[in-house]
Amino acid sequence: MEHDTEFDTTLASFDDDTGVGHVTLNRPDSLNALNTQLREDLVGSLEWLESKNDEADGIALRAVIVEGAGGTFCAGADVTEFSDSSPGAQSGQSHYEFIAAFPAPVIAKVRGYCLGGGLETALACDFRFAHEESSFGFPEVNLGLLPGAGGVQYLAELADPSTAKELAMTGEHISAEHAAEIGLANRVYGDDLDEETQAFAEQLASQPPLAIQSIKESAAISTQTGLEEGRAYDGRLFRSLLETDDHEEGARAFAEDEYEPEFKGR
Ligand code: COA
Repeated sequence: MEHDTEFDTTLASFDDDTGVGHVTLNRPDSLNALNTQLREDLVGSLEWLESKNDEADGIALRAVIVEGAGGTFCAGADVTEFSDSSPGAQSGQSHYEFIAAFPAPVIAKVRGYCLGGGLETALACDFRFAHEESSFGFPEVNLGLLPGAGGVQYLAELADPSTAKELAMTGEHISAEHAAEIGLANRVYGDDLDEETQAFAEQLASQPPLAIQSIKESAAISTQTGLEEGRAYDGRLFRSLLETDDHEEGARAFAEDEYEPEFKGR
């Protein structure tokens, strides 16, 4: 069954048959530029989706797709309210941090422009699935700025520091194909973008959610620790997953050919 709700500048929906939630940035007249309201509504939408976990038996929300209305993902920070909505001016957890720490994987489905804070939003997501005609860039340099939410850092991790500098120093837009070559876009599709992104989200949603959460946590930790510490961390995650019902369920499905596992997030 589909549930949906509307915020001032976002739309959110959740299908409890698939476990997949959707959030749409909904300021198409401004190319979904991030103003204060949109940043708040994005977090509000994710919180609303998260509340579906509490209502459900076990974990019902298992993957989220974030996209933009009107054929564009997001043209970055809203330059008309730039001074008070810049990341440095925010107090508390930003929408970037909220997405990065979200307990289910988040996929950015990118059409049109994915620029500046829009690109940083996509980088905060776990995956970026791009339309072949979309474009990516950090135009902040043209305003005498740098991407203020760690965009250069994230891109340096995903691609390499030199590529991150190239994008941020030139402000140039790159194609989806180029974005895939440098590891920024996970996958590039044509007209089948919606279908393929949905299929991927449903694939993630069918996996044991606690294992998926632990993998997300492990990947986040990997950028902050050395290998030894990271390996020890994964060992602790592994041992706690061994205690879960979902592990038992997976082991049973492995042993019994006909048995279809049903993971509960416990
Ligand atoms: N903040 C606020 N409004 C924005 C915006 C932004 N970042 N990006 C686009 N818009 C608005 C435009 O002002 C325009 O509004 P209008 O119709 O009331 O004039 C509308 O969105 C459409 O944009 P427009 O520039 O007409 O579209 P385009 O297709 O010609 O160009 C871009 C698209 C993305 C190349 C261009 O809008 C752009 O460079 N935007 C700024 C991107 C940016 O610098 N972002 C980072 C800020 S740090």
